[in-house]
Amino acid sequence: MLKSPRKFVKPVTKWVFEINWRLTGLIIPLVLFFIFFSLHYSSTSNGFNAFYPVQFLLRLPFASEDDRGSNKEELLRSKIAVCLVGGARRFELTGPSIIENILKEYPNSDLFLNTPLDSNTFKFSLLKFAPNVAAVRIFHPEPLPVNESHVRVLTAHNSPNGIQGLLQYFNLVEGCLTMIKSHQQKNNFTYDWVVRTRVDGYWNAPLNPQSFVPGKYLVPPGSSYGGLNDRLGIGDLSTSTVALSRLSFIPYLDSAGFNNLNSEAAFKAQLTTQNVTHVARRLPFCVVSDRRYDFPPGRFGVPVAALSSPGPLSGAKCRPCTAVCKGLCVETVMESVEREWSWTEWENGTLELCDAHKEWESGWEKIFDQVVGKKLAHARKRIESMEIGDCVKDFHKLRKRSVYWSAPPVDEICTLGLSPS
Ligand SMILES: *[C@@H]1O[C@H](CO)[C@@H](O)[C@H](O)[C@H]1NC(C)=O
Ligand SMILES: *[C@@H]1O[C@H](CO)[C@@H](O)[C@H](O)[C@H]1NC(C)=O
Ligand SMILES: *[C@@H]1O[C@H](CO)[C@@H](O)[C@H](O)[C@H]1NC(C)=O
Ligand SMILES: *[C@@H]1O[C@H](CO)[C@@H](O)[C@H](O)[C@H]1NC(C)=O
Repeated sequence: MLKSPRKFVKPVTKWVFEINWRLTGLIIPLVLFFIFFSLHYSSTSNGFNAFYPVQFLLRLPFASEDDRGSNKEELLRSKIAVCLVGGARRFELTGPSIIENILKEYPNSDLFLNTPLDSNTFKFSLLKFAPNVAAVRIFHPEPLPVNESHVRVLTAHNSPNGIQGLLQYFNLVEGCLTMIKSHQQKNNFTYDWVVRTRVDGYWNAPLNPQSFVPGKYLVPPGSSYGGLNDRLGIGDLSTSTVALSRLSFIPYLDSAGFNNLNSEAAFKAQLTTQNVTHVARRLPFCVVSDRRYDFPPGRFGVPVAALSSPGPLSGAKCRPCTAVCKGLCVETVMESVEREWSWTEWENGTLELCDAHKEWESGWEKIFDQVVGKKLAHARKRIESMEIGDCVKDFHKLRKRSVYWSAPPVDEICTLGLSPS
């Protein structure tokens, strides 16, 4: 004899309903928790942080109203300029992380690139993957005139290329502001935010909305070298105008009596004399560097982070390496490093150190690929095996996508870095 299937169906549905009613109070918060959690996880290229939601909830009550930053929906509706400055150097490692964690995180943002031409410039072909490109400026570097005002205000100490190097850097940063203002004027609008960042920054997590603080200029803590960490800055148009006018403020600092300033100290002087308040907030990027530094670093030495450190590293120097110093070792090393100089936040396992007194270790490519995952490893290999033809094709695509373009011929850029096969 066959039983009617309805006899089974009814009790089962009833059971499901009962459970549903009883658990609704629990299920809704759980679902919300997991949506939030998975959104965060999926948008994080690398850092898997199971405590993120907990940390997030714990942090809210302690943040004051105007220090809390902005909310994502609001930011997605606003106008954001992302200013990228510097030489291409290791852009095959850093570029894709910038695209994922800044540009794609804020797909409404416009990219402005200001960079001197060299044999690595071809690596910018990767920017064909960027969501919006407003302006690309690639220029033949030329020495800038140095006058007494510059010599009085600035110091060549600790700058690899002396005062000329500082002026080149200031010019690069200020040039980005000029590009932004020209784009605004041509299109009759103004940006709400300017994110100023570096070509050599490697990001291991998304730029979060709390980093946009109304009315203040945001800088990362640490790496302050007697002034303010100038490896990244975020602010509205008026604070950014002060922060990015690095070259044109020198005569002003001169007449205000400042002298012997390094880049960070000049940056601080520039903000304070203009009454721009700054706020420090940790940010998930490090500056990938080929430079060698003694290990362990002395009081005024430079700690070099392993690129695999969980972070946030707030712009500390880094390279892909097998970390030689973790946990207690980091504590010992970092407690001897001068806080007002190269020090960076290290507590709770965020920082692991390389012995960077030699060149990058052999096999660093494999280390890098493992840390960053498939997508970024693929971009690195794409550049490693790039041929002139690929470069030219990609650059033409980038050029088509860029509203403003000022650069040497694409063939010149590609042959400068890649030898014909
Ligand atoms: C130095 O050059 C800057 C332009 O870079 C100019 O604004 C300033 O007036 C000059 N200062 C002196 C003392 O010549
Ligand atoms: C620019 O925008 C303003 C208001 O948004 C408008 O009044 C003005 O006519 C515009 N100018 C041009 C040249 O489109
Ligand atoms: C900054 O504030 C001081 C004191 O309130 C004031 O004297 C000075 O003019 C201000 N400077 C600027 C550039 O606004
Ligand atoms: C490290 O963790 C402890 C305990 O959770 C916390 O009190 C402290 O603020 C953390 N330090 C940093 C720098 O985040």
